[in-house]
Amino acid sequence: MSLQEYYEESYHIERGRSSEDLLDEVLTSSKVLANYAVESKNKFLADKDWQGLRILELGSGRGGVGLHLARLGAEVTLCDFSPTALTQAEALFQAEGHSVTTKVADVTLPDVKFDSKFDLIVDSHLLHCLTEDPDRASYYQLVYDHLLPEGIFVAETMVHRKKIYIPEGFMFDQKNVLWQMFANWTPVRRILDSLDLEQELNAAGFNITYFYYYGQFGFVPHKRFMDIPNDILPAAVRMVLKRKEN
Ligand SMILES: C[S@@+](CC[C@H](N)C(=O)[O-])C[C@H]1O[C@@H](n2cnc3c(N)ncnc32)[C@H](O)[C@@H]1O
Repeated sequence: MSLQEYYEESYHIERGRSSEDLLDEVLTSSKVLANYAVESKNKFLADKDWQGLRILELGSGRGGVGLHLARLGAEVTLCDFSPTALTQAEALFQAEGHSVTTKVADVTLPDVKFDSKFDLIVDSHLLHCLTEDPDRASYYQLVYDHLLPEGIFVAETMVHRKKIYIPEGFMFDQKNVLWQMFANWTPVRRILDSLDLEQELNAAGFNITYFYYYGQFGFVPHKRFMDIPNDILPAAVRMVLKRKEN
C-alpha cells in the first residue's frame, strides 16, 4: 500500500460519521497549528486584514486549519491528494457557511498549479510526509511559486534528535526516512536533523524568518508512537519562511 492509498483509506473509513462529530474532531485536532498560523500572520503580516486574506493549506486533509482561518474571514484554498478528505472538508465548510476552493493534487508533481498566489501558505504537517529529495524540491518550488512577494509560509514539522526510538513495524534508514510495514515496507516520514532542514530551506530559496526548535516536545509520527517518552520522539520545529528576493 502506498502512503496515498493509506491516507485515502483512513479518510474513507470515516465517511459514515456524523458531521457534528467530524467537525468537532477536525477543529480540535487542528487548533494548535491554526493558533500558530494566526500568531504568525499577526506578527509577520500585521498590516493585512483577515478579511479576504488568501490562504492555501497544503496537506490539508479535512481542512481543519483552513476552517479556523475561514472563521476569521480568510479566503481558503485546500490541497490534498486524498479526494475523500477534500469532500469531507467541503461539507464541513458548507455546514459553517464558508466557501472554500479545493484541489486534489500530489504536491510533489512539478505541473501542479493554482489559479492565484497566496498571502499565507500553511504546511499542514505535510513536509515530513515527503520522503524523497526530488519530491521535496518540487514541493518547495510549488510553495515558492505561489507565495506573494510579501507572503509567508508557515509550517510545523518533525526533526530528528540524537536518539529516536523505533517501535516494531517501523525502521529508520540512513537518509532519515521512517519506513512502516504495511503489506510492503513503505516510506512514511522524512525526519531531518534541524540543521539539514535549515540548509534545505535555504537552498530552496527561502529566508528563514522564524525557526523555533522545541527541544522538549516530542512529535508523534504515527499513533503507534503514542506511548513513547518525549525525549526519544522526533522533536517539533515551527518555522515562518519568506521568499529570498524580499
Ligand atoms: C500528517 S497528515 C496531516 C493531515 C491534516 N493536515 C492534519 O493535521 O490532521 C498529512 C496530509 O497530507 C496529505 N499528503 C501526504 N502526502 C501528500 C502529497 N504528496 N500531496 C498531497 N497531499 C499529501 C495526506 O493525505 C494527509 O491528509
